[in-house]
Amino acid sequence: MTYARITGTGGYLPDKVVTNKDLEAALDTTEEWIESRTGIRERRIAADDEFTVDLAERAALQAIDAAGIERRAIDLIVLATTTADQVFPATACLLQQRLGNGGYPAFDVQAVCAGFLFALGVADKFVRTGASQCALVVGAETFSRIIDWSDRRTCVLFGDGAGAVVLQAGDAPGVMSTHLRSDGQYKDLLQVPVGVSRNFSKVRDGGAFTTMQGGEVFRWAVTAMSDIIDETVAANDLSKDDIDWLIPHQANIRIINAVGARAKIPRDKVVVTVGEHGNTSAASVPLALDQAVRDGRVRPGHRVLLEGFGGGFTWGSALITM
Ligand code: COA
Repeated sequence: MTYARITGTGGYLPDKVVTNKDLEAALDTTEEWIESRTGIRERRIAADDEFTVDLAERAALQAIDAAGIERRAIDLIVLATTTADQVFPATACLLQQRLGNGGYPAFDVQAVCAGFLFALGVADKFVRTGASQCALVVGAETFSRIIDWSDRRTCVLFGDGAGAVVLQAGDAPGVMSTHLRSDGQYKDLLQVPVGVSRNFSKVRDGGAFTTMQGGEVFRWAVTAMSDIIDETVAANDLSKDDIDWLIPHQANIRIINAVGARAKIPRDKVVVTVGEHGNTSAASVPLALDQAVRDGRVRPGHRVLLEGFGGGFTWGSALITM
């Protein structure tokens, strides 16, 4: 049986740090409100001349280096983003051009903050079926570009960044299972209500912003992310004690703590980066994974449960043996 194994991880955060104090100076908010309600202390924001593909490239090169492979070994790119550089080509194709080799499939997936799980789920199936031997899976966002920086209800939550993994075919697991879910009936609760086909003039005029019903999103995120932990563990005939690390989407420390408590996963097994990263949407999970690999918490052989939740709603998980 062929499995897809993560052989390298990478991450990149833009240089510019925006602290809660910076936001307090610009908005009707306080450092204390933001940290106590979200756990976020600071976030990174891309420079004006820095684009999603730039972030993706930095994370991808680090993952390729960590995997010890040549760029030409890559035969698939699946890139999750909500903030593509262009309407087309896909940001995955822009990244492919940067990496300097082509001819294999490179495409974007759009599942907002669950995007990396969707990208990983798709790439896993390519590798398991033999269609790909060495996939690059990326979550990259310049989410700050679709935020209204005068709206205190949303702007304090988000940041920019990118994370990446190399997935290689092998005999041992690997990605043990992926679980992907969507429910479009909740489309209005978290959205950017304009796009190419609808109200494009607002995009042109700088009015393409995220809107959110925070309380509803909070409740749904907790339920969906804790239920999918149970589903993932059961699908692999494991118990929660078999999980070495939970790496949840980094949206709000209160969501992360509530998910951990409902799923009965101890806090010292949960990787948390939201304080320094904010919510980087599709980049949040691979960035947190990369951080935990680099600081030595996640080690070869560990069982890691990744999970994400985003607009749509979309949500998903992956159980991985590192
Ligand atoms: N600073 C100060 N006050 C703020 C504020 C800010 N940055 N943002 C909102 N408020 C105010 C609101 O205007 C509201 O005031 P009102 O009651 O006078 O109208 C009040 O705070 C809301 O307070 P509360 O209901 O206690 O907030 P909360 O505990 O629900 O926290 C969120 C709000 C947004 C932090 C929380 O709902 C949340 O995190 N939701 C999930 C969001 C998310 O993760 N989205 C992405 C998912 S992928």
